Amino acid sequence: SPFDLVIRGGTVGAASGRYAADVGIRDGKVAAIGLGLGEGAREIDATGKLVLPGGIDTHTHIEQVSAGGLLNADTFESATTSAAFGGNTSVISFAAQHRGKDLRKVVDDYSVLAERGSLIDYAFHLIVANPDEKTITKDLPELIGEGHASVKIFMTYDLIKVDDEPLLDVLMTARENRALVCVHAENHGMISWMGKRLVKKGYVAPKYHAISHPRGSEAEAFTRLIALSELIDQPIMIFHVSTAEGAKVVRDARAQGLKVFAETCPQYLFMTKHDLDKPGMEGAKWMCSPPPREKEDQDALWQALALGDLQTVTSDHAPYRFDETGKLSAGPNANFKAIANGLPGLEVRLPLMFDAMVSQGRPEFSGRGLEAFVNLTATQPASIYNLAGKGQIAPGFDADIAIWDPQKSVTITDELMHDLTGYTPFAGRTVKGWPETVLVRGREVVSKGTLAGKPGEGRWMKRTGGWAAEPTGKLTADMDPARNFGAKVL
Ligand code: URP
Ligand code: ZN
Ligand code: ZN
Ligand code: ZN
Repeated sequence: SPFDLVIRGGTVGAASGRYAADVGIRDGKVAAIGLGLGEGAREIDATGKLVLPGGIDTHTHIEQVSAGGLLNADTFESATTSAAFGGNTSVISFAAQHRGKDLRKVVDDYSVLAERGSLIDYAFHLIVANPDEKTITKDLPELIGEGHASVKIFMTYDLIKVDDEPLLDVLMTARENRALVCVHAENHGMISWMGKRLVKKGYVAPKYHAISHPRGSEAEAFTRLIALSELIDQPIMIFHVSTAEGAKVVRDARAQGLKVFAETCPQYLFMTKHDLDKPGMEGAKWMCSPPPREKEDQDALWQALALGDLQTVTSDHAPYRFDETGKLSAGPNANFKAIANGLPGLEVRLPLMFDAMVSQGRPEFSGRGLEAFVNLTATQPASIYNLAGKGQIAPGFDADIAIWDPQKSVTITDELMHDLTGYTPFAGRTVKGWPETVLVRGREVVSKGTLAGKPGEGRWMKRTGGWAAEPTGKLTADMDPARNFGAKVL
């Protein structure tokens, strides 16, 4: 037969529109799309289903050791299993350098874990927390050249933050080697000062975590980061925008022609800081950085997604169990500063977004919720991070496909999740629409809700920086003053 597999009778969704079509797959790639395709060696009946590009989650912490030395709850096997059950076919995780560590060795170590455990395709952002001479001049350029074309920097967290001056070094190295620089941007001094003050006054419950990250700490850090990136003419990706003011800073920078990309996450679209206000330590389950904000921020973020100010929605999956190995590692009465930040979210990111955008039809998307959903969760992430052959169902592209039942109602529970966190902060929410079969390169990883993939079947996605990492060409002349004294731009 002409195809290894035909997905027959469904509605194919794309960023540009939706249409009835069969999808023919050969050798792991989409070979043909059309009505009445010839027979496949295998067939999947997709009548009444949506055939969508598999989700790409470009911000996930997997099998990662935190700055505080805590190993997160998931392995590559558990995290990518959970991701697949939630309709994802690729993830970008982190190779997380800590102070005093060798970046090359860090990447080697995470690569071994991912290669052995991953059920779906994966890549890494290189976290630089030790911007010494070797990291900046040797390891980083080499690793980018080998296909790890994005870097991640933290502007806050005591043990991993990078100050403005070394951040400029990283931006320049990224520019010279064509890598996108992703940044966790919050004003460290404000958060640190507020945290100490609250704890001293006895405000120690998890809910005060939200208060300790003043909303202005986001806009300030975004503004400073953008100024640094403009000086170097280096494109950046601002991670997890949580406030309306933060979204406005991004919008204004883009309006000036700066190459600033940005993401938000379900926790900022569906939660508020009031979710942290629970008895005892329970609120720790909703603790992440930045914290969820207010209803008005949610509305502003939805609008920013609809307008294109924000281009991706990621989970920022950062799982810690609600026990002594995770959230309660500093004891059952620890103050909020001692509790690990982060939430699990790999499995529910897409169902939450699908429900809001497609099933509920959020008004910002004016009837184009399905197209916007595909764009924000698959097509744009693949484009911005230059994941070749990913992010759309098109001839020659990898057959990374999620077949959704748009009518299936699911109430999210802790038990339903396939990761190892043991809880989900989204428990109790009912969503309409769920992915039932998920294919990576034409291979079923989840088949009608049952696990079919195996650890080790996921592949590393080697990538160059691509268009998003390409500088605008407007490097200030002052970078080379002897040659360019007085000139406006190079
Ligand atoms: O709270 C979070 N998001 N923890 C994970 C690390 C980070 O800040 O992205
Ligand atoms: Zn972050
Ligand atoms: Zn409020
Ligand atoms: Zn993160």
